[in-house]
Amino acid sequence: SAKRVTVMPAGVSFDVKPGQSILEAGLAAGYAMPHSCTVGTCGTCKCKMSEGKVRELTNFAYVLDAEELQNDVILTCQAALKSDAVIEIPNFELKHLTPPEDFEGEIVNYEDLTHDTRKVTIHLDRPVKFDAGQYLQIHHEEIFGARSYSFAMAPAEGGCQDVELFIRNVPGGEFTGMLFDDKLKGAKVAVHGPAGNFWLRDGRGPIICVGGGSGLAPIVSLLEQAAKEPHGRPCVMFFGARSQADLYCLDRIAAIGEAWDGAFQFVPVLSNEPEDSDWQGLRGFVNTAIEPVAGQYLSADTQVYLCGPPPMIDAVTATVLELNIVEKNVHADKFLDAS
Ligand code: FES
Repeated sequence: SAKRVTVMPAGVSFDVKPGQSILEAGLAAGYAMPHSCTVGTCGTCKCKMSEGKVRELTNFAYVLDAEELQNDVILTCQAALKSDAVIEIPNFELKHLTPPEDFEGEIVNYEDLTHDTRKVTIHLDRPVKFDAGQYLQIHHEEIFGARSYSFAMAPAEGGCQDVELFIRNVPGGEFTGMLFDDKLKGAKVAVHGPAGNFWLRDGRGPIICVGGGSGLAPIVSLLEQAAKEPHGRPCVMFFGARSQADLYCLDRIAAIGEAWDGAFQFVPVLSNEPEDSDWQGLRGFVNTAIEPVAGQYLSADTQVYLCGPPPMIDAVTATVLELNIVEKNVHADKFLDAS
């Protein structure tokens, strides 16, 4: 029979069915459970269990060290319940998220954004509700595994039946190879979501966003959503790309700036632009641009939203922590380009 888990100090509790992981049950109940990989490798879901007994779906020892194992640290994505339990998640955010569901989708359109990035539209069998910044998992029957892509759009009232994603062509990638060879128009895909804990937190403080490469989608999504509402929060958005040929979405970013309630600054930074080009903007890796520009956006309640490849996230996170931004206000959506 179902067991019950209570999350402290928030004090919320939910049922976990036999065979279900604590993480699955929490997401199904609409809670913002910390997680990333869901398969027991990243460690994002680890927390301390103060009461109860779990069954390990895969061995925790792949990720947890001896001291953690001894202190009843568990991975919620790999823990089924043998008894009622109490777990400790210190910064548990009380935010209702739409529980993920399975959808049938059809790839109905592509549009080139740059030489290697496309906007892809998938028509779903019914509308999906989501929070700006979340992602979907896409599975094609001929290709092993699922790929995760962020919604590249703000949600509409009542959900969206046509969802737009930005997909970068990964050299040698099986799924992106077929997509960029135009073999997937009309293809059926299985879609699961929404997922992810990347959404704009409430607050009054300034917002610093940093997107790299195809990591622009969730940033554009949450800024387009925020631009619809009055809030008076100053915002700076950095876009790290290789060269001018890799910049995209500039019209949508300009529209966000026009609609924004308060100061809005857009800072593209190029790491690999030819020396002799006409580029007047900043050069270098995006993390080096933050300190000189971000001064007026620094306060005790500044929030930072980062999306891009892991080395960029790590470099930018280190930079903003040095600028005394509070760690719990730094939200990162790390991704490996899905191939
Ligand atoms: Fe990655 Fe559980 S979510 S280890």
